[in-house]
Amino acid sequence: MGGAGQADLEGFALSQQPWGGRFGEEPDSLIDQFTRSLDVDRRLFREDIAGSQAWAKALVRAGVLTPEEQSRIEIALEEIQSEFFAPPPAEDGGVGAPEDIHMLVEKKLREKLGPLGGKLHTGRSRNDQVALDLRLYARGAGAQLLEAIAGLESALITRAEEQIDTVMPGYTHTQRAQPVLLAHHLLAYVEMIRRDGSRIEDALRRADVSPLGAGALAGSGFPIDRAGLARDLGFGAASANSLDAVADRDFVVELLAACSIAMIHLSRLCGEIVLWTSIEFSFASLPDALASGSSMMPNKKNPCAAELVRAKSGRVAGDLINLLMVLKGLPLAYNRDLQEDKDALFDGVDTTLACLQVTARLVQGLRFDREVMRRAALEGYTMATELADYLSRKDMPFRDAHHLVGRMVAEAIATHRGLESFSLAELQRFSPLFGADVVDHLTLEGALGSRDVLGGTAPARVREALANVKA
Ligand code: ARG
Repeated sequence: MGGAGQADLEGFALSQQPWGGRFGEEPDSLIDQFTRSLDVDRRLFREDIAGSQAWAKALVRAGVLTPEEQSRIEIALEEIQSEFFAPPPAEDGGVGAPEDIHMLVEKKLREKLGPLGGKLHTGRSRNDQVALDLRLYARGAGAQLLEAIAGLESALITRAEEQIDTVMPGYTHTQRAQPVLLAHHLLAYVEMIRRDGSRIEDALRRADVSPLGAGALAGSGFPIDRAGLARDLGFGAASANSLDAVADRDFVVELLAACSIAMIHLSRLCGEIVLWTSIEFSFASLPDALASGSSMMPNKKNPCAAELVRAKSGRVAGDLINLLMVLKGLPLAYNRDLQEDKDALFDGVDTTLACLQVTARLVQGLRFDREVMRRAALEGYTMATELADYLSRKDMPFRDAHHLVGRMVAEAIATHRGLESFSLAELQRFSPLFGADVVDHLTLEGALGSRDVLGGTAPARVREALANVKA
């Protein structure tokens, strides 16, 4: 070490905290362990370094650093970045060691550059620094989530296209209700996860603001061109209020809310995969590679991955609630409570990403049993609504038609037969309005074809919907 400022740094051991000036005692090891966050925020090293590099440039424009100093800092930060890809050195752990990623990067910089390393923090606080790191992280995580959503979407669309003629029973109350196309069912999930994608995009739009230059809470004390700095970091704007910039995490809440809703959709899809692959349903099976066995029962083939996605939806909702509770009632501006935001965000994003990828794999792998589904679509008197609609089209009030077909269903149940097996003469015993054309309506194709409204399951409409989502 040499040059100006050396005297001030004398007695400043690198193992001590940079904030230690006013402290006269060694940190308590329990408190030190409890308050440090390096294990969690270590993964923000890229964001932290990118932020510091941009900050060094802003300090040149503010007249704090010379261009030569800035370029030495830039190079040293590059080196530090590459060191992060190696296993962490043992010294990172004990009392007095860097407590978080920002302190670790700063320590490494001072080790490399001496007093110059200590200049980088001019006009900057860890409060605006960590808010920046988190926004940069959110941007990257959002992009990854959108990519994973696109992957699941394309898996669903591919299967819908390939199963465009497959008929299945549609359900309400988990009771067979009316026939639908399997493609229609799969495209319902496409609609849901598309909205999930747009919620993530929306959250990213509001995260697209640079907090850097807000300082600890009141704004940096140096003439920082905050708008230029925001542009350098690829943000749409610089934050308008320094207190808000360091204190709020609503962009994290929004991202976790979008993840939570997406996870609920995945849990429903995976819940259906669990049902469909049961012997009771037998609508589909999973390839062996996508299922697991039982340690005791040799007969078992379990949809464990689908079950775990279903369960992990609760975990992400927990991350969201966790963060909301951290924020609730916090006075402005920064509070250490905010350090707890990272665990929630990382866990929510990691879990959602993994579940999107796993669900896509399951959708790709499902082997549908078209015959079983078709048979199931007919069983359960699923033609009943079609018959009631037929009578209504012949001008019988719908309530009367509903009642009359209800009596037919009761007779079908009592005589153990399906509605589609009724002959014309038998139908006419119930109502003279039944004509020869009713036979066309008593088929799966007839029932499907008459649901010919926008968003309905008529094959022509589903083909149209498929074309729309592919466009
Ligand atoms: N590790 C801290 C966090 O994650 C960084 C900010 C610390 N700021 C402070 N004033 N102690 O929130």
